[in-house]
Amino acid sequence: MEDKKKVLTRRDFLVSAGGAAAGLALAASGLGILAPKAEGAMVDLPEYPWTDYFNKPLDVEAVRAKGTAYYNQGLGCAEGAFRALLEELGEPFSYVPSQIMNFGKGGVVAWGTLCGALNGAAAAVSLVFGGQAMTMIVNELLAWYSATALPLNLEHRSVAGNPLCHASIANWCKVSGKKASERGPRCAALTGDVAAQAAMYMNQVLEGTFVPAFAMSEETKACFDCHVGGYADDTLGKMDCKGCHEGH
Ligand code: HEC
Ligand code: HEC
Repeated sequence: MEDKKKVLTRRDFLVSAGGAAAGLALAASGLGILAPKAEGAMVDLPEYPWTDYFNKPLDVEAVRAKGTAYYNQGLGCAEGAFRALLEELGEPFSYVPSQIMNFGKGGVVAWGTLCGALNGAAAAVSLVFGGQAMTMIVNELLAWYSATALPLNLEHRSVAGNPLCHASIANWCKVSGKKASERGPRCAALTGDVAAQAAMYMNQVLEGTFVPAFAMSEETKACFDCHVGGYADDTLGKMDCKGCHEGH
């Protein structure tokens, strides 16, 4: 078993133009990827960071279409967005099992917390960029989501006001007059939109053109400056405070 184990090095990927050739060779030889199979060998993932493997811009519209399609196939918003991005990123990203994000659906198994599409897209961003670039992109993605009428291309569009599934669904029900249980087509489109937006930001970082566009409102900034790390220093968060609290 051990002697058959093939280690795919960083160099293997780079010399095979993004790893397509290596992947095909493995597929053709019937060797399992990651999981050791009875008579097969196993492929080690390259060492992290993987930022260098993201070396050509993503096809934003392909990501959008895949996100929607995977939601419709039953993967849910989080896994759908994650998988759409991993596939378009190619190897080694596509070796990561997308099921790792399945829990994110419905804002984490229907708890209505962080929107799963955001969760899944952010996980993909995190695989590509650790550290500062990840923070920049995910920050922008959550701010964009909070302030944007979504889904972008359906008749009924609503602004969540924060990155919570709970608020997102509730506001969509208000705008559309539909029931939350009818959210399928809406969340499918939204999954595509969020994954595509993340792809767009990643492309901009790759090309050195990324400029954050969404700033915290003046009102929230005032509360934030006092309560988050400031004078009061007694909570954490960048969400619009007025969505849940009265001022004082
Ligand atoms: C100048 C600093 C300052 C600013 C600005 C500020 N707060 Fe406070 N806030 C306090 C302090 C001090 C308390 C009382 C002690 C505590 O709970 O931390 C407090 C209490 C609160 C509480 C606890 C419940 C209550 O009313 O006692 C909430 C909720 C709150 N603030 C939300 C906000 C929001 C929302 C904003 C912006 C609209 C805001 N704060 C702006 C300092 C500030
Ligand atoms: C999605 C809803 C939501 C948003 C948005 C939100 N909060 Fe809260 N906040 C809560 C909840 C829930 C609690 C816990 C309250 C409790 O248990 O009484 C809380 C607690 C607090 C407390 C302590 C309250 C107390 O009674 O001492 C402060 C201060 C506070 N929030 C400030 C803020 C500020 C400042 C913002 C914006 C940067 C903000 N919150 C955004 C829901 C929210």
